[in-house]
Amino acid sequence: MDFPLFHLDFMGNRMLIAVVAIIHVMINHPMAVGMMPLITLMEYFGYKTGDQRWDKLAHKILFVCFIVTTTAGALTGVGIWLSISLVNPYAIGSLIRIFFWGWFTEWIVFVLEVCLIMAYYLLWEKMRARPQKLNHIRIGVALSISSWLTMGVIVAILGFMMDPGDWTTPGKSGLITGMLNPLYLPQLAFRTPIAMVGAGLFAWFLLPFYVKHDIAFRLKAIRFISIWCLCWLPLLFVGALWYHDRIPTMMQGNMDVAIATQQWAGKSQSLLWITWVSAGVVVVTVTAGLLKPKLIPRVALLIPFILIIALLGQFERVREFIRKPYVIGNYMYANGIRVKDYPLLQKEGILKYATYVHVREVTEENKIIAGEDVFGIACTRCHTTQGVNSVVTKFDNLYGINTQWDSTAMAAFIKGMHNIRPFMPPFPGNDKELDALVAYIQHLKATGQTLSGMQSTGVVIAPPMPSNNRIPLSASPAAVTDVIPQ
Ligand code: HEC
Repeated sequence: MDFPLFHLDFMGNRMLIAVVAIIHVMINHPMAVGMMPLITLMEYFGYKTGDQRWDKLAHKILFVCFIVTTTAGALTGVGIWLSISLVNPYAIGSLIRIFFWGWFTEWIVFVLEVCLIMAYYLLWEKMRARPQKLNHIRIGVALSISSWLTMGVIVAILGFMMDPGDWTTPGKSGLITGMLNPLYLPQLAFRTPIAMVGAGLFAWFLLPFYVKHDIAFRLKAIRFISIWCLCWLPLLFVGALWYHDRIPTMMQGNMDVAIATQQWAGKSQSLLWITWVSAGVVVVTVTAGLLKPKLIPRVALLIPFILIIALLGQFERVREFIRKPYVIGNYMYANGIRVKDYPLLQKEGILKYATYVHVREVTEENKIIAGEDVFGIACTRCHTTQGVNSVVTKFDNLYGINTQWDSTAMAAFIKGMHNIRPFMPPFPGNDKELDALVAYIQHLKATGQTLSGMQSTGVVIAPPMPSNNRIPLSASPAAVTDVIPQ
């Protein structure tokens, strides 16, 4: 409401964040957080045994990770912040104030991580000689710690968004309470081992390319990596159980749709089975890698990594979804409106308090354009008009494609949508705005029109209130009581 509407009508705003964030996690977890300690360990093993093949393998794997993490990894990392601040500036505005020092620290550690990975990779040959080698390994250790720390800080924010815990209690809204939210440690206890296992499986994935002819060494490497994975797998199992156990009950209710979308929600159990089977395949292959490395064909080394990446992607998707209807648990809905501001807005209307809308009050003449504004504020963080998760298709599914939808039924549905579909926030506006929204959605169906964000159409600023009594929301009674720690 206080920012011009950014909107992608074809792919949807959620999809933009999802694509960038999931690619980032798929790179960052296995190739940075997990791989740096594994490479350092391999280098150390080579140093201890005097077998140069370990050193060479570690160096080659580092080359791939160095290139991927400093290009696609770093770009998608920045891309996440860019995309979320476009799609939900309200959420990021709150989070950056609560976690300012957390982010600040993360940024410093990230810069350190980039410097260390450059030093680690670029000095590999120069520091090969014995006395220096140990120092080089120490760089690897420092790099491993800093890679893990960057994740360690960000996970606090991700946990907070799911469940802020005591932070919402008056007087407790400090940084430390926010960091130590109920989901922080369980989520970290899950992500750390999944990153480590992912790294092992990525190293497996690279083996057929990097150790083509020296079969004896390939078998050794398969066993070495299997042991690495098997050390982390029990921790992953415990972390997953702990994390699952701490997910608030309300969010558990979203699980079916989160796993499989509403259309396939009934099939979520089958999809869950696929998840278990994939996890089983990973466990069986790494155990076989330890006991009978000879039995593992080269191509089989590729499969577990693909599976773990798919699992990681699905896990991120589910995490993002189950948090709904909130973007910050119990504090701010996914549409960017604070829970506390709802009573005021539902009474007086959202248009009155919005800055970037065409009209301030709904009339018979301006119904469609007012409805567009209301749709922009209340629905576009999750729905498009005609693209992915299109609102027209959703109503088609409810009331039929070739029928005239009943306005009263639509209005009743939207008014109670948070009860029927708890992953949607309640409708934030007043009754007139609800009418306008219904008229707009029917207009979308009739005309097939789409909605463009203000990044394409230019920014629209609302006219002043005719009665000149508009109060900025930040000074409204509901908002004044709401103190965000600086
Ligand atoms: C927090 C995100 C979010 C917001 C905000 C949101 N929705 Fe939804 N809505 C969803 C999701 C997710 C689905 C289910 C998608 C699926 O899996 O098919 C859905 C489904 C629907 C459905 C189909 C329900 C059914 O039972 O089949 C309708 C209709 C709908 N939304 C309308 C709206 C309208 C109108 C608004 C704005 C006032 C809105 N939604 C706001 C996320 C949201």
